[in-house]
Amino acid sequence: MKNKRILFLVFLTFCNVKCDPNRFESTLGHLKSQKDSSVQQESVEKLIQRILPERYKEFSIKIESNFTLANKEAFQINKINETIEIVGTTGVIAATGFHYYLKYYCNAHISWEVSQLSLPKILPDVNITISLNDRFRYYQNVCTTSYSFVWWTWQQWEQHIDWIVMNSYNFVLASNGQEAIWERVYRKLNLTQEEIDEHFSGPAFLSWLRMGNLRGWGGPLSQAWHQRSLDLQHKIVERLRDFGVITILPGFAGHVPRAFERLFPNTTFTDVAVWNNFPNKYCCPLFIDPSEDLFQTVGKMFIEEQIEEYGTDHAYNSDSFNEMYPSSSNLTYLSNVGKSIFNAMTEADEQAIWVLQGWMFYNDGFWADVSRAKSFLTSVPLGKMIVLDLQSEQFPQFERLEQYFGQPYIWCMLHNFGGTLSMYGSSDIINTKVIEARNAENSTMIGTGLSMEGINQNYVIYDLMTEQVWRNESTNLTEWFQNYSRRRYGKTNIYAEKAWQSLQKTIYNFEGIQRMRGQFAITRTPSIDIKTWSWYKYDDFLDAWKIFLMASDDLKDSPGYQHDLVDITRQILQNNGDIYYNKMVDAFTTKNWTEFDKMGNIFKGIFLDLESILATNKAFLLGPWLEAAKNSANDSNEAKLFEFNARNQITLWGPWGEIMNYAIKQWSGLVKDFMYVRWEVFVDAMNYTLIYNATFSQSLEQTLIFVLYEEPFVYKRDIYPVEPSGDPVLIAKTIASRRWYSDSENILKVKPVPTNRRIVKTKFMNNK
Ligand SMILES: *[C@@H]1O[C@H](CO)[C@@H](O)[C@H](O)[C@H]1NC(C)=O
Ligand SMILES: *[C@@H]1O[C@H](CO)[C@@H](O)[C@H](O)[C@H]1NC(C)=O
Ligand SMILES: *[C@@H]1O[C@H](CO)[C@@H](O)[C@H](O)[C@H]1NC(C)=O
Ligand SMILES: *[C@@H]1O[C@H](CO)[C@@H](O)[C@H](O)[C@H]1NC(C)=O
Ligand SMILES: *[C@@H]1O[C@H](CO)[C@@H](O)[C@H](O)[C@H]1NC(C)=O
Ligand SMILES: *[C@@H]1O[C@H](CO)[C@@H](O)[C@H](O)[C@H]1NC(C)=O
Ligand SMILES: *[C@@H]1O[C@H](CO)[C@@H](O)[C@H](O)[C@H]1NC(C)=O
Ligand SMILES: *[C@@H]1O[C@H](CO)[C@@H](O)[C@H](O)[C@H]1NC(C)=O
Ligand SMILES: *[C@@H]1O[C@H](CO)[C@@H](O)[C@H](O)[C@H]1NC(C)=O
Ligand SMILES: *[C@@H]1O[C@H](CO)[C@@H](O)[C@H](O)[C@H]1NC(C)=O
Ligand SMILES: *[C@@H]1O[C@H](CO)[C@@H](O)[C@H](O)[C@H]1NC(C)=O
Ligand SMILES: *[C@@H]1O[C@H](CO)[C@@H](O)[C@H](O)[C@H]1NC(C)=O
Repeated sequence: MKNKRILFLVFLTFCNVKCDPNRFESTLGHLKSQKDSSVQQESVEKLIQRILPERYKEFSIKIESNFTLANKEAFQINKINETIEIVGTTGVIAATGFHYYLKYYCNAHISWEVSQLSLPKILPDVNITISLNDRFRYYQNVCTTSYSFVWWTWQQWEQHIDWIVMNSYNFVLASNGQEAIWERVYRKLNLTQEEIDEHFSGPAFLSWLRMGNLRGWGGPLSQAWHQRSLDLQHKIVERLRDFGVITILPGFAGHVPRAFERLFPNTTFTDVAVWNNFPNKYCCPLFIDPSEDLFQTVGKMFIEEQIEEYGTDHAYNSDSFNEMYPSSSNLTYLSNVGKSIFNAMTEADEQAIWVLQGWMFYNDGFWADVSRAKSFLTSVPLGKMIVLDLQSEQFPQFERLEQYFGQPYIWCMLHNFGGTLSMYGSSDIINTKVIEARNAENSTMIGTGLSMEGINQNYVIYDLMTEQVWRNESTNLTEWFQNYSRRRYGKTNIYAEKAWQSLQKTIYNFEGIQRMRGQFAITRTPSIDIKTWSWYKYDDFLDAWKIFLMASDDLKDSPGYQHDLVDITRQILQNNGDIYYNKMVDAFTTKNWTEFDKMGNIFKGIFLDLESILATNKAFLLGPWLEAAKNSANDSNEAKLFEFNARNQITLWGPWGEIMNYAIKQWSGLVKDFMYVRWEVFVDAMNYTLIYNATFSQSLEQTLIFVLYEEPFVYKRDIYPVEPSGDPVLIAKTIASRRWYSDSENILKVKPVPTNRRIVKTKFMNNK
């Protein structure tokens, strides 16, 4: 008897720690596909038909909800009589199996921007069963919808959902169309149309309206927009569910229009603090204290209205304190806040699970006090809340917060901010730390996820991270990157492979704790105070680029190669921007005009090279972003407003440049007409200062640049190409041949010739 008990305990401990893939099954078991196997099967069949319109008949799909390996969801792939038979626990898993076969048996590649699908004539033999480590694979950040998806049509969504399920993501945020739902709620509460219009922001800023960071900016929203979003959300949610995905709907976080003060005079509202210096007109909605009855009323109404429209999979996202502090640090208060938020969900859906983006835990000093986090997190029964550990690759919180005090969490890679395009990533970390976290003592990890703010950058890192869903041991990254090159370009090329292996060791092996925001001298507002930095040796990266270029004869027709050649050349130019920026500023500070003139002209030339290389690839054009914005509009006035939204988000980000350059893209068109013009003027002013020994006022220059160049850009209506032009290989080679990559240059000895250029500016400067 005694022995038996000991055995039992040992087994329990071991299982809790390591082997139970279904941790929290008792509270989370109901988060699962509600669709019949036949629906899921048909969805995957149609997906294969979309991906391989010529070859789909060579595949057959079976969904067996009881199909598992070691108690984990799994797929099995067999070639039987010329047919590739794929069995999966759900549609998502079967689609994942299909993708796995394409990647590892057919050397194919499907990414966000490009695909390579030249399959062998005879499909290779296969007989494997692969299990997935965790029950949950989460996809999206609350910001992705604004930075990447805002102007998408159903066609783009359909393609993207195929990507989502082929990469195993089964727990997906579905936040479109919520303003249409809110409008109904607001009407029921008797807000006037003006009050609603004053509240809703424009399409490009909805993520931050939803988080209570701003209001009204870029708005209002028309009925046509609401209808468009509703239709889209219906299609998205239905398609995701048909594959067996659990959709996460938005819940109520407490942020409401200011008009609530008029309607509910006896309710206590908290003023939301100013976010990023947004002016009063566009900031600070009200926050209903979660202890107020009204919080429950509104939260319940919102979820009920949503369920009526879209149905539910019982998961709701709610973040009350994203980049803002709770009004009190009283632990009882924090606990009550948690309870109220959860109650508002369960009042509408008794099976509700609260999905919390844990961003606040590291973005705010407030939560540095662990006891506060504990009060908040444990206010809800264990297993009824899922925390997204949002940036686990750099600032994991699950250890500091003791496995979220028992609440389950998902290990997410955030990686990207604002959809900016710099190349970087932490391949070693994601290759090892995910597995460590899952196997850690008392781990409450129940999944992995991607939580990038914007997609369409650094695909390689997302590809590697996604494989952690089935990997149980870290992989050999040298080999993996070599393999990535083969899949992406469709063939073995020793130069491309060497280049990728080098990138892995340099640019893709960031392990620091500096906050990566993808901003460099060329993408910033001109200043002589920019601090540049880098974690890899520039020369190594330069070598990788030159080696990569050597593959051009062989790979020039590969869309993946064309894309990457543009991207790597872009990165080279961006790095050079930093190098020559520093040289230029040094020369300016020491008043060495000869040196300044040389460095300044090289610096300016970088923008022109950048513009021409970017123009050669569709993924790096401003045109499609602006055209998509206009195409989302219902009439010409709305087209104007939406274009303004699109231009503002990627430049000023706010009425007065409140988060200027945060989401700036190195796109052809934007480089030429935004980044270049402002730097050109600034460098000219520095030049003038040296030539005439004039006074230099940086703030005056910056104001001038804002008024004359930066701000007018967002109101312009010029049309940019939506199709690429120019030969990337030719242009990259021209750039590579520039003498300014060599250190042994002759110093120009020419004397400056004063001119009367840019009189406007010199007046400003003389006034100082
Ligand atoms: C799964 O269930 C089906 C019937 O629904 C059955 O035919 C099959 O044998 C089961 N498979 C396993 C692995 O239990
Ligand atoms: C494979 O094809 C052969 C000949 O057509 C047939 O006899 C056999 O039953 C098939 N096997 C399976 C597993 O379908
Ligand atoms: C697949 O492999 C397993 C062992 O790994 C073996 O038992 C099974 O017979 C194989 N199936 C086929 C169709 O070859
Ligand atoms: C809205 O106004 C109507 C008519 O004036 C009133 O009957 C109703 O109670 C109001 N609703 C709320 C939530 O105040
Ligand atoms: C607010 O409270 C006051 C005083 O208690 C009361 O007279 C008034 O009717 C209340 N207003 C509403 C809208 O409930
Ligand atoms: C926190 O709030 C509760 C309830 O309002 C109160 O009883 C308690 O004294 C407060 N604690 C502190 C430390 O202020
Ligand atoms: C795991 O949990 C046990 C029991 O609560 C505790 O004694 C132990 O210290 C925990 N281990 C870690 C690493 O937190
Ligand atoms: C990893 O998974 C493979 C295949 O499922 C299995 O053979 C191997 O034992 C696993 N390794 C560990 C460390 O669990
Ligand atoms: C990784 O693979 C490369 C190439 O096959 C090999 O040279 C290297 O030793 C491997 N690294 C490790 C740590 O196994
Ligand atoms: C200006 O800089 C260049 C290059 O660093 C240097 O050779 C030259 O001596 C400097 N001129 C003066 C006047 O310091
Ligand atoms: C500085 O001004 C001179 C005279 O106009 C011009 O030739 C030179 O290119 C300018 N240098 C830079 C870095 O703009
Ligand atoms: C430049 O201006 C400063 C003060 O404005 C003056 O002290 C200095 O002598 C001037 N230098 C030259 C070379 O004119």
